[in-house]
Amino acid sequence: MRRATESDIARFLDLLEAVAAEGRWIATESPVERELRAKRIQATLARDDSAVFVAVAGDALIGQLGMYTQFPGLYEIGMLVDPTWRSKGIGSRLLEAAIAWARSVGAHKISLDVFPHNTAAIALYEKFGFVREGDHPKHLRRKTGEIWDVISMGLVLAS
Ligand SMILES: CC(C)(COP(=O)(O)OP(=O)(O)OC[C@H]1O[C@@H](n2cnc3c(N)ncnc32)[C@H](O)[C@@H]1OP(=O)(O)O)[C@@H](O)C(=O)NCCC(=O)NCCS
Repeated sequence: MRRATESDIARFLDLLEAVAAEGRWIATESPVERELRAKRIQATLARDDSAVFVAVAGDALIGQLGMYTQFPGLYEIGMLVDPTWRSKGIGSRLLEAAIAWARSVGAHKISLDVFPHNTAAIALYEKFGFVREGDHPKHLRRKTGEIWDVISMGLVLAS
């Protein structure tokens, strides 16, 4: 588990593509716009008020978590773990690192969106104290034409 660097960007995008191709867990769908995403990640890595963590096993990048902010002290999380490495504690270690980092920079809240069918992700977030804050019925249109519900979850760190 460590902070990401520019040399991780290609493998970061490979993993994003693989999980997007599963078509079920994240809002991003295939095909992933690699150039645009690479620029965005580069910009995020250059910021002091954002953080990207990666989990590595040998040369492989097996998990990633980004903490993005638009408003002071409020962070949005996006995370994923390689399908062959799930349910082995990687997501927990990423989230633990992210929450510790958020506390260290004085963040007051972490928030995220998740699909209601993503029971593994919801269980992970609840394990770390996130609570369900809102339901957004018929929120995201998928490329299939279906419109999926989304749940917002949040973890308050300071009042
Ligand atoms: C959600 C995700 C990041 C979890 O990562 P992970 O490495 O599998 O998580 P962990 O092994 O640390 O498990 C954490 C907790 O999640 C729950 N969990 C894990 N796998 C589960 C499963 N298949 N079903 C139900 N709950 C599960 C358990 O509560 C577990 O805690 P425990 O091990 O103490 O019992 C991973 O499944 C993933 O990448 N999914 C696809 C992408 C995605 O959904 N990203 C999040 C979008 S909001």
